[in-house]
Amino acid sequence: MIGAAISRWTMAYFAMALAWLFVALALMVVGIGYPAVDIAAPDTLVLVHAVCIGWLSLAMCGALFQFVPVLVARPLYAETWALPALVLLTVGLVSLIGGFMALGGRLPPALWLLPFGAVLLVAGFALVVVDLGLTAWLRPTGPARFVLVGLGSLCATIGFGAVFAFALAGWAGSFGDLVLASGIPLHAVAGLGGWLTLTAMGVSYRLLSMFMLAPDVDDRQSRVTLAAGALAIAVTVAGGALAIGLASGMSVVLSIAGVLGLASAALYGRDIASIFRNRRRRQLELNMRMATLSYASLAGLAMLGFALVWTEAFAAHVGAFVFLAVFGWLSGLVLAKLYKIVAFLTWLETYGPVMGRAPTPRVQDLVAEGRAAKWFVIYYAAVWAGTAALLASEVDALRMAAAMMTVGVVGIIREIIRIRRLADVESPLRLPGGAVAPHLLFARN
Ligand code: HEM
Repeated sequence: MIGAAISRWTMAYFAMALAWLFVALALMVVGIGYPAVDIAAPDTLVLVHAVCIGWLSLAMCGALFQFVPVLVARPLYAETWALPALVLLTVGLVSLIGGFMALGGRLPPALWLLPFGAVLLVAGFALVVVDLGLTAWLRPTGPARFVLVGLGSLCATIGFGAVFAFALAGWAGSFGDLVLASGIPLHAVAGLGGWLTLTAMGVSYRLLSMFMLAPDVDDRQSRVTLAAGALAIAVTVAGGALAIGLASGMSVVLSIAGVLGLASAALYGRDIASIFRNRRRRQLELNMRMATLSYASLAGLAMLGFALVWTEAFAAHVGAFVFLAVFGWLSGLVLAKLYKIVAFLTWLETYGPVMGRAPTPRVQDLVAEGRAAKWFVIYYAAVWAGTAALLASEVDALRMAAAMMTVGVVGIIREIIRIRRLADVESPLRLPGGAVAPHLLFARN
């Protein structure tokens, strides 16, 4: 990592992602979307895509622009594509959300916004996929393989999403209507399971061993974890598409994918446990301690999914399941890792150029873990309370949980801005001769 180029627009991706997280939390606090309305209602779709594309996908893309070159020890295929991709994704998402609002009667009936937004999103994601894919393809080892499967799943997700958007505008004929009628679970599993979860797993292998000074997980071991996950997504997408073509039910396909997904999560747990066991840095930093709460959420998710399927209550509680996946497992991990990544990149950008020529602070001098810990604890406690509220169908309790999550997120963002501003670095070390303070939203490289 030291010596690697700093991705210029990663901070801008993170900032935009956090802005969308606020939008989503605000919607939840005022009670817009599920559970106040149906899970497939337009208001829910606004909320789902603000979280899935705006928050999680943008944060993931920003992190990947920095980390894929590190994973494969090669420069990014095209550094200049990152900013146009961010603009396309942002405008595309605004348009898609406008389309959902038109669908729900909150805006005049301009349904063309849906296909228009889909085209922009496809263009933006295409830039990301080609750029990262060509970079990772050069040396597809260990974690980079997870990223490649994640990017493949992203292609499936946006393919389905684009067909849905054209179908909802009435522009996709009977084929589009057929895909829209049955394809939503496939789109959701490819997006949440394939793109976001497998990519987060891959990146976490590298980040965890790097930040805890642990040897990398054995390649053969992580390959089995990936194979189970990739098979789950392949069965879902290919089997599901076949089931749509044959006009048969999806339950067999989704059950097989569920078992494979569970196996992949269990194997991932084993891999992560071995990184923790073999680490040389015994004292866990805050981001690691908080990441364990995200892993606890993933374990809770597996148990919840199992219990719901066992009691034949999965369909009734799919909202609680997705909520825990999105906010406990994925968002929790992203927030914990953002806290460390921003500190690390800020340190590298500010002090890398003067290292060896002047005394410089340690990365840990940029953070105030004691102060930041409480915001993470508030966030996770709120997410678990929110999951319980959804299981109990308590709409107002969920809104209170969302308000508490917002408090936690505001606190975490304040800490991240302080890191970027070097606000916690003691004065003589803060800007040694020749060091330049970083910009909040982009790297000066
Ligand atoms: C080109 C990008 C995308 C487009 C155009 C798109 C479009 C859509 C549309 C039109 C629906 C609603 C279908 C219906 O119920 O009528 C939908 C549902 C959904 N999408 Fe996307 N989507 C995109 C990307 C994503 C991504 C990247 C994710 C996740 C990572 C995602 C997650 C979901 C989920 C979970 C649902 C089901 C929501 C529910 O039923 O409440 N989408 N998408």
